[in-house]
Formats: sequence, structure tokens, C-alpha cells
Amino acid sequence: MNVKNNISNTIYLDYNATTPLEDEVLETITDALKNTWGNPSSSYPEGEKAKATITTARKQVARSINAQSSDIVFTSGGTEANNWVIATAIEHFERTQVKSQHQGEHRLKPHIVTTTIEHDAVTLPLINLKDKGEIDVTFVPVDKECRCVTVDDIVNAILPNTCLVTIMMANNETGVIMPIKEISEKISAMESESLRPLIHTDAAQALGKILVDVEDLGVDYLTLVGHKFYGPRIGALYVRGLGEGGAPLYPLFFGGAQERNYRPGTENTPMIAGLGKAAMIANDDLKSISEHMREIRDYLEKRLLAEFGDSKVKLNCSLAPRLPNTSSVSFIGQNMEGYKVLQNIKGFVCSTGSACHSNECKPSQVLLNFHVPFDIATNTIRLSTGRSTTKEDIDAVVKELKDVISSLSEIAI
Ligand SMILES: Cc1ncc(COP(=O)(O)O)c(C=O)c1O
Repeated sequence: MNVKNNISNTIYLDYNATTPLEDEVLETITDALKNTWGNPSSSYPEGEKAKATITTARKQVARSINAQSSDIVFTSGGTEANNWVIATAIEHFERTQVKSQHQGEHRLKPHIVTTTIEHDAVTLPLINLKDKGEIDVTFVPVDKECRCVTVDDIVNAILPNTCLVTIMMANNETGVIMPIKEISEKISAMESESLRPLIHTDAAQALGKILVDVEDLGVDYLTLVGHKFYGPRIGALYVRGLGEGGAPLYPLFFGGAQERNYRPGTENTPMIAGLGKAAMIANDDLKSISEHMREIRDYLEKRLLAEFGDSKVKLNCSLAPRLPNTSSVSFIGQNMEGYKVLQNIKGFVCSTGSACHSNECKPSQVLLNFHVPFDIATNTIRLSTGRSTTKEDIDAVVKELKDVISSLSEIAI
């Protein structure tokens, strides 16, 4: 494992936004581009070779989350996987409701339970469908004490017409880990298999940082995103018992018979090969990777507290169970807005929150929903460490932050 941390001497501390390709992943992709270019559906050797490459990658991805190969469908990324689960749950509800409906009975709208701190790739499709009057949604807030959603709040939000519970495994801005296993256990105990809502978790930020085990989590669907674990810009969707009487999956597209008709279109063999390799490394090296990330993140937080003191720097949600690499940091005082801090930094890069909103001056809604007070949320930057971040990098980052914060506070006077 040898991935450069820095781009042209700038220290990269935004690994939750994206990661570089691991060297071995790049080699796998390059090899597939050169040698596995056949159409995987062709029955001559070039096609068979490409098909075998995809089969290997599917096994690697499945193994990384303790799933069966047949439970994995490749997607373009996390956004597609999340949208697909939502569309499937709604379609499944419509189909099963039609079957079980008594004549003349009032037709219920599908209802979905989620949280107020999801990525936009879950929140926005739900808002869009709600605005069109097609679904009802309950956005369960985070508990103020534990900075997590509670199992009881989620379970209490479930209605007879709830077709899906979708909750991220770990938050991209704060790193807070949600109690997915406990939620699944409670839901499974509540209702008979045929009546209970489907359960989805967006694990985009989890793989390669914490253990992701679908059996242990007890979910029906799980989203994976390659570029968050040193892999390529594609993703995968885990579907429990796909095609074997498990969770349903309805295609979004229609065309060829690829991916068992669930996702037609000629497969992106090189990127799929890279995803498999990246998943394999993330799983095999998880212990050392996550220990390293935690050591460096904790060192960063210790250094920040030592330099600024706890009246000048706040570590948001740091008492909640968190990803080992994520630190949501706020500088207290006037003129300390996250975007201003970023504008003045030259030696390293990070973001104010989600990369999708990094140019916004207003505080992150997700942070506000984590009960971070408005002023503190406005002054927040997200630092996320990677596999090759060193203590020397952190020393340089803290030194520059000291200079920038001191000059910003002078301007404020
Ligand atoms: C938690 C989470 N879910 C989904 C996504 C969307 O992934 P993509 O942009 O690759 O589709 C991201 C990416 O930032 C994410 O952090």
C-alpha cells in the first residue's frame, strides 16, 4: 500500500470527499483496460476473460461485506444505488399493496423513514417524491444527548404503510456511526418478514474505515462507493438474497441482460475490476488502516486542543461513536467562518462539510441537525485523514491553522 498523501506539496485532508486510487487498484484497472477489453457477454475467449474478471471482482466486493456474490449489483456510484433502493421499495409497496388490497379500500401512500442527517443522495430523492405527492416521509431527528438517532425514535416512526427505513451507516461530515444493527434487530422482531419495512443503509463512508458486515447489520440493502475507499468512481449495491426470494430489486433501466437484467448495459469491466481490488484491500487491511487513521485523527485533535485550548476550538460530536478518520472542528470567535478559514489556508486542503456544498457560506444543515449551535456550525471545517497521513502532516496543518486563526482574529478586532 503506497498512496501519496499530498498533491504538489499540499497536504490532502479531505478523504471523506474522495480518495486517490491505491497503486494496486490502478494496476488492476490498467491491466483490465489493456487485457480485458472484450464484451463480457461475448462467448469467445475475450468475452469470457472479461466475464471472469467481473466474477472475481463481485466475489471480492461480496467478501468485503460478508455477503454472497449473487447479492452484489454494480452501479455507477452511491447516488444511483441510493435512488435505486428508494424506487424499488416504492414499487414493491405498490405491487404488494395492490395484491393485498380489499376491494374499495382506501389506497395508502408508501411511507419512508429516514433521518435528518442523510447525504443528499437520499434526502433529495425523498423530498422530490414527497413534493410530487407520491410518498410520505418521516425525517427522524438526531438525539441531542447522544448525537445519534435512537433505535426507539426510528421504530416509533414506523407506520403500517412504511415500506423502507433508510439510515446511513456513518455520517460524512461528523463521522458519527448510527446504530444500524440495533435498528434492524428491533424492526425484524416487530413484524413478520412479509410486513416489515425494508432496511437500507448507505455505507459509503464506512467501508475501509470500520467493519461492514451485512449479516451482522441485518440489512436488506447496503450502498458501497468505490472512491471513498481508494477505488474507482463506481459503486455497488448489496441486496439480501437477490433473485433467491430475498429482498426485491426492480430495474431502473431496460435493455440487455447484464447483471441478470437488474442493470442492463455493457459492464464497465476495468472499473469493476478496480472496485473489487479496492474492496479486497479495504477488508484485508482494515485493522491496520483504521488503527492508523484513528491514531492520526486523535493526534490531530490532541494537537488542536493543546494549541488553541477548549475555549477556542470545539470538536463536534466527538463523544459519539465515530469513524476513525473524521474530525469536525470549529474555531470559536468572530471572523472564523469555515469558508474564510479555508480561503486563507495554502498548505493543506479540507472542506467545510460535504464536498457537494463546499463553496457555501451558510452553515451545513447536517451539522445544525446534529445540534451543533448555529455560530459553531458556521465556523466549522471538516478534516478527514487517510491511509498515508502522517504526524508530520498534522504538525504542519496545526501550525498553519494557528497562523491563519491568529491573523483572522486580528482582522476581527
Ligand atoms: C454518505 C454518502 N452517500 C452517498 C454519496 C454519493 O456518492 P457518489 O457521489 O459517488 O454517487 C456520498 C458521497 O459523497 C456520501 O458521502
